[in-house]
Amino acid sequence: MERLGCVGQLTAGAIGLLLLLRLIQRARRRKQVVQDKVVVITGASSGLGKECARVFHAAGARLILCGRDQKRLQEVVEELRAILPSMVERGSGHIVVISSVQGKISIPYRSAYSASKHATQAFFDCLRAEVERFGLHVSVISPGYIRTNLSRNAVTGDGSRYGVMDKTTAEGLDPVDVAISVLKAVTYREKDVLLVGLIPALAIYLRTLWPAAFFKVMASRAKKEKKIKEQ
Ligand SMILES: NC(=O)c1ccc[n+]([C@@H]2O[C@H](COP(=O)([O-])OP(=O)(O)OC[C@H]3O[C@@H](n4cnc5c(N)ncnc54)[C@H](OP(=O)(O)O)[C@@H]3O)[C@@H](O)[C@H]2O)c1
Repeated sequence: MERLGCVGQLTAGAIGLLLLLRLIQRARRRKQVVQDKVVVITGASSGLGKECARVFHAAGARLILCGRDQKRLQEVVEELRAILPSMVERGSGHIVVISSVQGKISIPYRSAYSASKHATQAFFDCLRAEVERFGLHVSVISPGYIRTNLSRNAVTGDGSRYGVMDKTTAEGLDPVDVAISVLKAVTYREKDVLLVGLIPALAIYLRTLWPAAFFKVMASRAKKEKKIKEQ
């Protein structure tokens, strides 16, 4: 009995030590990959962009933060145009794109958003393949709902501000956790990161393996939403 207790303590100690070593290794790797690197973050004034700025700053990166100010945006467009050739020339660089689960599956009444995210996914999947031979990396991050001002800032069909905090957004992921996942994607050079719960993950498989069933589920969701809106 005593021997068993001793073996248990030793195993727990060994597991603890392994976990500690893993944590130290991760922190070191993060430092190596991000420390003193120039990181450009667009949409850094709020939500996920703002949290990414905090997390990458804490990891030792040098930040260039961009908002929507027209003059500044033009400068950023010009800077970004120059970035890819300079990355190719240097043979190093990492582009991180924030897509959405709606870049993988489309849900009713989100046609413009979903179409833009599908296009984003496709564009950067192409770019990833094209630039890999130059030593460049592309990560596409596809989160579910995140607790930010996204729905408040969204515009409606006539261009006016939607201005409402949707329940789904309010109950979404913590932007800090998503920002940490972005840092992890850079550290481990993850190509395609899905940050969703079980149901959206299953929906993505359903869309691929049994599209007819997926379309039925979405059509019934559309009907339900329409009814709710009309009430
Ligand atoms: N929140 C979610 O549920 C969720 C889920 C999945 C994916 N995402 C994605 O996460 C990313 C960040 O969104 P967020 O949730 O952090 O929303 P947010 O809080 O509304 O932040 C959006 C950011 O984008 C900038 N921005 C907005 N319109 C722009 C434009 N036309 N041109 C340039 N910059 C613009 C805003 O800056 P200024 O207004 O200062 O210019 C702001 O910094 C987006 O790509 C979104 O699609 C969000």
